[in-house]
Amino acid sequence: MSGDLSPIDKAKFVAAKRAAQMVETGMRVGLGTGSTAAWLVRCLGEMVRDNGLRIKGVPTSTRTAELARQVGIEVISLDEAKWLDLTIDGADEFDGELNLIKGGGGALLQEKIVATASDRMVVIADVGKEVETLGAFPLPIEVIPFGWQTTQALVEETLVSVDVLGRESSLRMNGATPFVTDEGNHIVDLHLKRIGNARQLSLILNQIPGVVENGLFVDICDTVVLGHGDGKVEVRDINDGTVSTDRLDFLESNNLFSDLSD
Ligand code: A5P
Repeated sequence: MSGDLSPIDKAKFVAAKRAAQMVETGMRVGLGTGSTAAWLVRCLGEMVRDNGLRIKGVPTSTRTAELARQVGIEVISLDEAKWLDLTIDGADEFDGELNLIKGGGGALLQEKIVATASDRMVVIADVGKEVETLGAFPLPIEVIPFGWQTTQALVEETLVSVDVLGRESSLRMNGATPFVTDEGNHIVDLHLKRIGNARQLSLILNQIPGVVENGLFVDICDTVVLGHGDGKVEVRDINDGTVSTDRLDFLESNNLFSDLSD
C-alpha cells in the first residue's frame, strides 16, 4: 500500500518515522497537527502498541487528540503535563534559521503554546517546505470573531510600515462560513509574498487588538527532520550546527498505511 503514496507523502512519512525515534519512554510529548504530524502520531501509536513505548501526549488540536486516542497514545492536557520534553510538529515553511510559518491547518495557537512549553521542538517536513525567505505561504493569524473586519483592516494598515512584499489578506473560509479554530476564533491569511524580518513582524502583529496569535515561530524550533520521496532523511540541528543523513524504507509491517484520512 505504501507504493500508492505520492513522493510527498513518502517524504512526510519518513520524516515522521525518523522523528519518532527521538521519543523515549517516560517522555511528555507535544503532538502536532496536519498531515505530517498525523504520520508521527501513527508511528508513535505503533511504538506504544508493539514496542512498549510509554509516553503521555499533549495534542495541539481536537483532530490530533482523536487520532492519538485511536492509535493508543495516552492523551493528557497541557495543564496536566505543565512542561513537555519534546514537541514534534509539521510546518508550512521553514528557513535556514529554522524560523517557521505554521497554521495552514488552523491550529497555530495551540501549536505555539505547546511548542513554547517544550524543552525542544522538532519540525518534520518534506523538502518542499524549505525556503530561503519566509512568506510565499500565506501567514495565518488567529483573530477573535468580535470586530474581525476592523482587526483585519488594522493589520493591513500596519503592514505598510514593515518589510513585506504584499499586504492583501483574506478571511479563511470553511465552505460558505468562516473557518472556526479549536479556540472559537477565525483565521485571517496574510498574502505577504516575502517577509523581510520575521521577528519584528511577529511582535508587531501580536500587539494589534483582536489578534490572538500569528503563525510565525521565531527561535522556537531546534531541529528539522527533512524527508525526501526516496526515503532519504536529513536531521539538521540549529543549536549544535549538525546535519546527519539517513535512509528509511517503507516496510509495511503494520497498519500505518491503512488510514490515510488526514
Ligand atoms: C497546522 O495548523 C499547521 O501548522 C501544520 O503543522 C502545517 O500546516 C503543516 O501541515 P502539513 O504537515 O499537512 O503540511
